[in-house]
Parts: sequence; C-alpha cells; structure tokens
Amino acid sequence: MTEPQDVPRIWIETYGCQMNTYDTSAMYGILDDHGYRRAGTAEDADVVILNTCSVRDLAEHKIESRIGELRSLQRKGESRATVVGVAGCMAERLAGDLTKGNNRADLVLGVDQYEHLPTMVEKALRNSGRQFLVSTGHRDDVHYVAPPAAYPTNNSHLVAIHKGCDYKCTYCIVPMTRGPQREKSPEVIEQEIRAIIAGGGEEVTLLGQNVTAYRAEDLSFAGLLQRLAGLDGLRRIRFLTGHPCDMGEELIRTIGELNVICPWLHVPAQSGSDRVLKRMKRHYTSSEYLRMVESARRLIPDVTFSGDFIVGFPGETDEDFRLTLELVRSVGYDQTFNFKYSERPGTPAARLEDDVPLQLKKSRLEELLSLQDDIWSRTAEGQTGAIWDITLEEPARRPDGAWRGRTPNNRKVLLKNCEGHVGQNLRVEITGHEATTFMGEAI
Ligand code: 5AD
Ligand code: SF4
Repeated sequence: MTEPQDVPRIWIETYGCQMNTYDTSAMYGILDDHGYRRAGTAEDADVVILNTCSVRDLAEHKIESRIGELRSLQRKGESRATVVGVAGCMAERLAGDLTKGNNRADLVLGVDQYEHLPTMVEKALRNSGRQFLVSTGHRDDVHYVAPPAAYPTNNSHLVAIHKGCDYKCTYCIVPMTRGPQREKSPEVIEQEIRAIIAGGGEEVTLLGQNVTAYRAEDLSFAGLLQRLAGLDGLRRIRFLTGHPCDMGEELIRTIGELNVICPWLHVPAQSGSDRVLKRMKRHYTSSEYLRMVESARRLIPDVTFSGDFIVGFPGETDEDFRLTLELVRSVGYDQTFNFKYSERPGTPAARLEDDVPLQLKKSRLEELLSLQDDIWSRTAEGQTGAIWDITLEEPARRPDGAWRGRTPNNRKVLLKNCEGHVGQNLRVEITGHEATTFMGEAI
C-alpha cells in the first residue's frame, strides 16, 4: 500500500466552455476514485492536465504557450510535475500531433476517453515522458457524471444532458471535436440531480452544445424540463446553450409556465444578416430570430437574453455587419459575447476565403462592443430603485467583503453587509451598476 504522501498529485486546468468545467469535475471524480490526490497548484502537482478548447485559434495558442511554460518550470526545477497531459477538444483535434515538437504533451486524452485517465497517468508516471500516450476517438456509449460535491463555484451545479452536436454550423469545430450528439438518458440526469439535491444543492444548469435539441426517444427538451421541474427540492433550473431554431412556441410556453425554470435565454444569433446566416448554416433568418424573441417576451415573464456574435465571417460586407448591429439594437440583450471569426481547419467555412482583413474584424468587434455597452447602460440605469429577488452565490472577491448574488433571469448583484450563506434568498433594492453587475442593498 502506498503511503499517502507518495500518492501522485494531480492538477487539472480548465479552458473553454462550461462543458469543460463539467468534464474537469468528472475527471477529478474518476481520479479520486482511484486514490489520486488533488494538488493545490500546478507547481505542486506531479501531473498537470490541461483541459483544452479549440473553438478559436487563440484558445489553442494559449495552450501551446502554457505547455511551454510548464516545461520551463520543470527544467528549472520549480515544478514537481513530470507529466503534462492534454485533454478536451484540442486533444481530440490534434491527437498525436501534440506529442511532437518542442513543447509536447506526455499524454493526450480525447473527450470520450476519460475513464482511461488513471491507467494512463500511472503509465506516464512510470515511463516519465519516454513514451507518449494517446487515446482519442468518439464513443456513443460513454457519458460522464461529475460528482455533485466537486464543482459548484457558485450554487449552480452543472449537469451535462448530452454531448456532441449534430448541427453543422460552417464555422464550428465542435462537431469534429465533440462528435455527434448523444443523449444522456433522462433517468441518469434525474439520478444526478437527485444526488445534487441530497447534497444540499437547489439549482442546476443543464449543459450541452445545443440543449434545446435534446431528444431521448419521445422526450423533447420541453418534456425533459417538465420532468425535471417535478423533482422535489429543486428550486431553479438554468440551461445553456439554446439554438434559436429549436426555440419553438411549445418550449417557450413550457419555460414561461414552470416557475422553476429561470427566465434567461442564452440564444446565440451569430449574425443579423440572412446572407451570412445562410452561409453559416444557422437555419433561421433574422426576422425569425426576432419573432422568437418577441414570443419569449410575451410568454416568459421577466425574460432576459444573452447571445454570441461572430464578426468578419468570410464574405461579410459592411451592409451585413450593419444588419448585425440592427439586430443587437432590436433585441436589447443583457449581455453579448462577441468574437472575431477564426478559421478552423477542416470546417466547411475553411473552404471559403477568410477575406475580411484583421483590422476590419477588429474595428467591427469594437463597434459591436460599444453599441452593446450603450444599449446596456440605458437598460441598467433604468433599473435603479427596482426590487429584485436574488440568490446569494459567493463572496465577490472584493476588498469591501461584498457578496455576489443572481436573479432568476441571470442578473448579477453585489451586496455589502450581508454576511451571506451560499444559496440564501434575499430581496434587494438596486442602487446602481458597474458594467453588467448591479449594486444592491438587502431590504
Ligand atoms: N470563430 C469565431 N468564433 C467562433 N465561435 C464558434 N466558432 C467560432 C469561430 N470559428 C463562437 C460562436 C459560439 C461561441 C461559443 O464561439 O459565437 O457561439
Ligand atoms: Fe471550446 Fe467548443 Fe470544445 Fe467547449 S466544446 S471546449 S467551446 S471547442
């Protein structure tokens, strides 16, 4: 039997989306079950695993330099780590290539291979970098379940309801890295949520590349929501990400009718130009998108919206971009996440010429950001004096000891002098805002 101090320590760094946050928890869970210990920092770990993202080239460059940094710490003797691993989307995309070149990984684990982690870590530690280990490829039969106690950074527990994606948005690498859409069964999802509730959790965020496309036999996403809404002790359900073309009237009505479903829709539009949307293969026009927004406003009390946009998609003209600005103006999002188009190898859009110059992509991004800031400032200023119900989530990491809470429709509120407990519900008066965060006082 190994003495505890000899048990290898693992550190996993998470990049990219919440699916990776969830997978990191699942990986820690698998490693815990095999007796590994968690390190407190990367420098203190025997094995460092980077759970990576491929969605833009910048995300991948970050990982390349992080591997370089870890190798340099290792050479200087400032880090214990002898093994550096790459997991996640980049592992799936680049596989064996990651074990070549100057800054190489010792082990590479694709998104459906995490149960091999303990044996691969053990092998990698034994051969300390003399042999590279690679395990990638998609499998239909595996779904990981993150242990409930492992992850809430606030009080919302992530629950992946499926993996992969069957939409073929032409810019997107995800169908390649995460494979086809495969559903977790409603029974497993329920079991996972029951375990969260048993551990004191009251809120879940259902996760998937396209949760609104969930379908298990006859059960649609609306049906799944209805089923989960009946779970005893579950107070709030959020979900990410919705595809606008799946947001039909039945689903919108379900969200509006069930109190337990939070009235917040993250529904990326990507562009406001029908010509661009068609080339992106998004399956909706800007007017259909606006009709969806309008019916959500009608049927879901207090609904708020957030979304993603890509600027500089191949062939995007000034007029196309103007239509994106117009859409942003018409919707009035609480928050938008805006990105410069980044060509991803092997995607259908990579066959189109990446013809919008970088400078123009940058200036369009700036214009979009500043429009959203203007619209948001006006909305936010109008909220001073409003009374909202919030749930306390975590200390706000500010010197004034403020706590951070969230409204059901996903607005963040900072509160001073509230000495809160995670999950406590409070009624607050809004006193102002800084960017997308509101200041409030408990009443
Ligand atoms: N280039 C830029 N942004 C992208 N996204 C996805 N693929 C790309 C790409 N190739 C953005 C989309 C998506 C978000 C997660 O990342 O806006 O909704
Ligand atoms: Fe990045 Fe997409 Fe992979 Fe998430 S699923 S890590 S956003 S490429």
